[in-house]
Order: sequence, then C-alpha cells, then structure tokens
Amino acid sequence: MAKPISIEVWNPSGKYRVVSTKSMPGTRWIRLLTDQDCRVEICTEKKTILSVEDILALIGNRCDGVIGQASRELLVLTEDWGEVLFSALKRAGGSAFSNMAVGYNNVDVNAANKYGIAVGNTPGVLTETTAELAASLSLAAARRIVEADQFMRAGLYDGWLPHLFVGNLLKGQTVGVIGAGRIGSAYARMMHSSFFVISCSAYGQFLKENGEQPVTWKRAASMEDVLREADVISLHPVLDKTTYHLVNKERLAIMKKEAILVNASRGPVIDEAALVEHLKANPMFRVGLDVFEDEPFMKPGLAEQKNAVVVPHIASASKWTREGMATLAALNVLGKIKGYPLWGDPNRVEQFLDENSPVPAACPSIVNAKQLGI
Ligand SMILES: NC(=O)c1ccc[n+]([C@@H]2O[C@H](COP(=O)([O-])OP(=O)(O)OC[C@H]3O[C@@H](n4cnc5c(N)ncnc54)[C@H](O)[C@@H]3O)[C@@H](O)[C@H]2O)c1
Repeated sequence: MAKPISIEVWNPSGKYRVVSTKSMPGTRWIRLLTDQDCRVEICTEKKTILSVEDILALIGNRCDGVIGQASRELLVLTEDWGEVLFSALKRAGGSAFSNMAVGYNNVDVNAANKYGIAVGNTPGVLTETTAELAASLSLAAARRIVEADQFMRAGLYDGWLPHLFVGNLLKGQTVGVIGAGRIGSAYARMMHSSFFVISCSAYGQFLKENGEQPVTWKRAASMEDVLREADVISLHPVLDKTTYHLVNKERLAIMKKEAILVNASRGPVIDEAALVEHLKANPMFRVGLDVFEDEPFMKPGLAEQKNAVVVPHIASASKWTREGMATLAALNVLGKIKGYPLWGDPNRVEQFLDENSPVPAACPSIVNAKQLGI
C-alpha cells in the first residue's frame, strides 16, 4: 500500500475541503480560507516535486479545490496537472485549481475545461520584485559582489589593493532592455532613476544641478543595435518560438567585450552552452542569471566561471510577492467555490493584497473563465 502523504490541517470542521500541495509563505491565505468555512490541508512532504500518485492521494474522495505548483513553463518538472488530476478533482466534487504562479501554459487547460475546473493564476504581484532582482544581478555582476564575498569568507583578504576586484562603473552607461513589457519597463525605470532611490524627476534635477546630461532613452531599431550599443543588457521577453536562443553565439559576439548580460526571464532565451564558451573566452564579460536552460541544472562549465553570478530562480522571491501569490491563489479557489464573479483586471490586484481593507468578493484571475462561463 502506498505510504500516506503527510499533511497539516487547519479548521478541521470546515465545510469546504481545500488542499495545498505545498506550504506557502505567510498565514493570511490560510486565514482567508478558514474564515470562509474552509478546512485547509497543506501537504508537508519534504520532496520538492509531488508525483501524480501523491496528488491523487491528497485529493482523495472529497475535495473542493486545490492550490498547486504546476508551472512547467519554467521547464522544471513540476506537478503534472492534466487529464488524470483534473478528472480526479472532478470526481471528488471539486471545481477549482489555482497555480501559485503567473505562468500556466503547461497546465492542460483543455483538460480542466473538459471537467469544468476553473484554473487560477497570480499575475500582478511579480513585476517589481522580478525587476529588482534583475537590477540586483546587474549591480552584483558589475561590481563582482559574489566573487568578492567568496574571497572574504575564504579568509584571503590581507589588505587593500589597487587591483582588487576592479569592476564596471555603471553611472553614465547605456542600459539595454530586450522585452520591454511589464518587468522590462520596471527594470528600465529602476536602472535609470534609482540606484540611490531618487525619484525620476529628482534625479533629472540632480543631474541638471550638477551640470550633467539628463538620462535619455530610445527605442532601438533592432535587437542587434541594443546588443552592440549597451553596456548592460537585461532580458525580459516571454519564452516562445521567437525567443528560444534569442541570445546565441553570433549575438554574444557582437556585444561589448566588457558588457553585462542579465537573464531573469526564462533559461532557454540564452543558448547557455554558447554563453559558457563566451564567458571563458571573455573574462571581462559578465552575466547575472536567475534562470537556466536545463533547470535545475547548469550547463557544464558555468559553475566554474567566476564572471557569472548565478541564483536559483528567485526573481519573484520577495516576502510581499510570495505572500501575495499565495493569497491570490487561495482567493481564486475560494472565489470559485463560493461562486464569486471574476475580478475586472488581473494586473490590478492591490485590493486583494491590502490587509487593512476588506477582500473583494471576486476571483482575482481565472484563465479559463470564458470557457467556463464565469
Ligand atoms: N525569473 C522569474 O522568476 C520570473 C518571474 C516573472 C516573470 N518571468 C518571466 O518574465 C517574462 C516577462 O514577464 P512580463 O510580465 O514582463 O511579460 P510581458 O508580457 O509584460 O512582457 C514580455 C515582453 O516580451 C516582448 N517580446 C515578445 N517576443 C519578443 C521577441 N521575439 N523579442 C523581443 N521581445 C519580445 C513582448 O513584446 C513584451 O513586451 C515572463 O513571460 C516570464 O517568463 C520570470
């Protein structure tokens, strides 16, 4: 017999049974559910990815809704939300599934439609947090923060030296953004206006008073122009057929030898094997990477490159964002169970996140609302 799945239970006598396949940040999301007569069961298994069998066991014979982590858009194997799980949820009397993620294009929404299961996601809370990580990677790569930290911890520092960890000065440099959507635009704003958290107009005034040129921006005619001209380039496009290996060997070759390349979009936007070769051949070229082509793995050789700053897909990992994602996922499930209408704009979700105002009686974001007539 299969080993039982370990769970933590909140409000055992609640009328509606809601399961979360993972523990999620904060407790507000739990409170919002238990206040509305939900019994909340949180899976406490130690493994990172639950199998279909594990999730079937969690759903059991009666389950109203599930909060899960099904973003294979990340190209990381996560929960497999398709025919098997949606049909099981339906049989258990369920009507709602929400991803604790904005991406859902590998959730089998057609299967969810077939069984009348609403699929929720969590847009509107990731933009600034992700842009801040891209800005952090830009600065960390430019000033060799990680290398210097490792050096210090290794006890190698024995006094100030003129050549010690000399990096790039960013002031006055050209920043390129490829994919200037929500996150790319927020990154651009941060990079030109707020190294020292000075607002845009104040920064302009500051530059003027110091007899300096104000910051300028332009829309480049081609991606090659951006790659050729910019000193720091941050990638923020969606991943699709047009952006797969957008930065390849040829495009790396036209970038400045001392450029900084940042990727907090999706790993396959860069040909990572070509990048490793480029980093080896150009020690002054630096990268800051949040995402990887074969996540959770790095291409051979990347880990050894000192001119690469690598972090484990943490771009959305601020407390505010992650707690907000948990809240939106819980409210998607609750809203469907309660029969609430759909919220007007999934990108404007502040009202759901403000602890001091009442939570709207609406589903923040249901991706198949139209198909289900919500
Ligand atoms: N690392 C993380 O944890 C994390 C977190 C959030 C989002 N993301 C990634 O960031 C991406 C962008 O998010 P967003 O909210 O800014 O999306 P968005 O839709 O607002 O912006 C995407 C931009 O990409 C542009 N684009 C599309 N095809 C392109 C191409 N071939 N070349 C250049 N640009 C192209 C679009 O015009 C758009 O401006 C998401 O799709 C997601 O994959 C990553």
